[in-house]
Amino acid sequence: MIKVNYQNALSQEELFNKKSAILEAYEVLTKKTGAGNDFLGWLRYPVEYDKEEYARIKKAAKKIQEESEVLVVVGIGGSYLGAKAVIEALKDYFPLNKSIEIVFAGHTLSSTYMHQLLKYLENKEFSVNVISKSGTTTEPAIAFRLLKELLEKKYGEKANSRIYATTDKAKGALRVQANELGYETFIVPDDVGGRYSWFTAVGLLPIACAGVDIDLLFKGAFDAMNDAYQLPFEENMALQYAGCRNILYNKEKFIEILVSYEPKLSFISEWWKQLFGESEGKDGVGIFPASLVYSTDLHSMGQYVQEGKRLMFETVLKVNNPEEDLVLREAASDLDGINYLAGKKLSEVNDKAMVGTALAHVDGGVPNIMLELEQVDAYNIGYLLYFMMFSCGVACYMQHINPFNQPGVESYKKNMFALLGKPGFEELGETLKKRL
Ligand code: PA5
Repeated sequence: MIKVNYQNALSQEELFNKKSAILEAYEVLTKKTGAGNDFLGWLRYPVEYDKEEYARIKKAAKKIQEESEVLVVVGIGGSYLGAKAVIEALKDYFPLNKSIEIVFAGHTLSSTYMHQLLKYLENKEFSVNVISKSGTTTEPAIAFRLLKELLEKKYGEKANSRIYATTDKAKGALRVQANELGYETFIVPDDVGGRYSWFTAVGLLPIACAGVDIDLLFKGAFDAMNDAYQLPFEENMALQYAGCRNILYNKEKFIEILVSYEPKLSFISEWWKQLFGESEGKDGVGIFPASLVYSTDLHSMGQYVQEGKRLMFETVLKVNNPEEDLVLREAASDLDGINYLAGKKLSEVNDKAMVGTALAHVDGGVPNIMLELEQVDAYNIGYLLYFMMFSCGVACYMQHINPFNQPGVESYKKNMFALLGKPGFEELGETLKKRL
C-alpha cells in the first residue's frame, strides 16, 4: 500500500474538486477508449500473464545462476531500467554473500564502458540476456554483437546456450537471430511498451537471476492493480497522485523532483523519469521529471531547490521502516559536537532531515507530496511500480495525451543513422553535414 500525503502541496478541497476530471481519465484508461489503447496489455498483466513463460523464467534463472558468475543484461530504456531499478532497490549496498553479479550493457555507446566490460568478463563465467522489443535498436545491437564474439571465443559452440533473448514473438532482427541460432527466447507482449514492461520477461528474468522473489514482486503489482481499479476516489492513492500532479502543473509547477532519502532507490527514480517523461512529455505539454537523493544532494542542489526559479514541486518517496538501523552512542568527549544525538536512531536523524527539508522547501515555494512506502521489499516495490504506471496513465489522459507512444525519440536516431552512413539516410546525411 502507498499513502499519498499532499497536505503540504494543496488542499483536500482542491483535489476533490478535480474528482470528476480524474474519474473521467480513469474511465478512459480502464475502459481502454483513449489514444494508444492497443498498448494496454500491462493494465491487467498481473492476472493475464503467460503462466508457462513465468515458470520458464524461473527455470532459466536457476540455470543462469548455476553456470555463471555474471549475467550481462543488454538493453536500453524500458528494456533495462525496470530490472535495474528493482535489482538496485532490493540488493544490499555491500553484499556479503557471493551471488551472481548482474551487469548492464547496451544502454550506452561509450567505447570505454564496453571495452572495460569485455576485459572484466574475459576471465569470468557469464551469460547474456539480450532484450529488445523491436529487436533493431542500435545500442543493444552493438553491445550484443561484441559480447557474442567474446562468448564464442570462450565457449565455442556452447555459446548459444548462454544467450537468452527477450524480444517480439515474430518480428525484428533479434528474433531472426534467435530463431536461426536457437537461443532460448522470452516474449515482449505486443501490447506492452518498454516503460510498462518491467514485470514481463523483460524485467523478470534478470530480476529472478538476481535472487529476488518474483512471486512477491508480482503479488505487490497484483494488489496495486486491484486497489487502483477498485478503491473509491477518496481512498484511491493512484488517482489522488495523478490529480495532485495535474493541479500543481496548472499552477505552473512544471518540474517534479522525485526525492528519496535511501540511495538504493535512485534507479527507481530513473525508471520513473522514463515512465513519466516519455509518456507525458509531448505535444508541448508535460511535467519535467527530475530526481534527487537527499540528504546527499541537499549539499549540491539544495540551494537551487530552496531559492532558485520557482517551477518545481517535490514528491518524496518516504520509507516508513528502514531495513536496518543503528543507535548513536554517547562519546566520552564531545569533540565532534554530536553528543546531543546520543540515544537516537540513525533513521530518526534521516527522518528529521526529511521533515525539516520538506517544511523549508514548502516555505521556499516548493509544494511537497509524500508517497509513503511501508518498507523496501519485493512486495512493496512491485506495488509501487504498478501504482506509478496506473497513475501515469490517468495523468496523461487528464491532459489528453497518448501515454504509450514516443514519436520524439525517433529524431535523434534519424540524425545518428544519417551521420553514420546507414543506407537509406544519405540525403539527410548531406543536409546535416552542411550544418556542422
Ligand atoms: O519505453 C520504450 O518504449 C523505450 O524506452 C524502449 O524500451 C527503448 O527505446 C528500447 O527499445 P527496444 O526494446 O525496442 O530495443
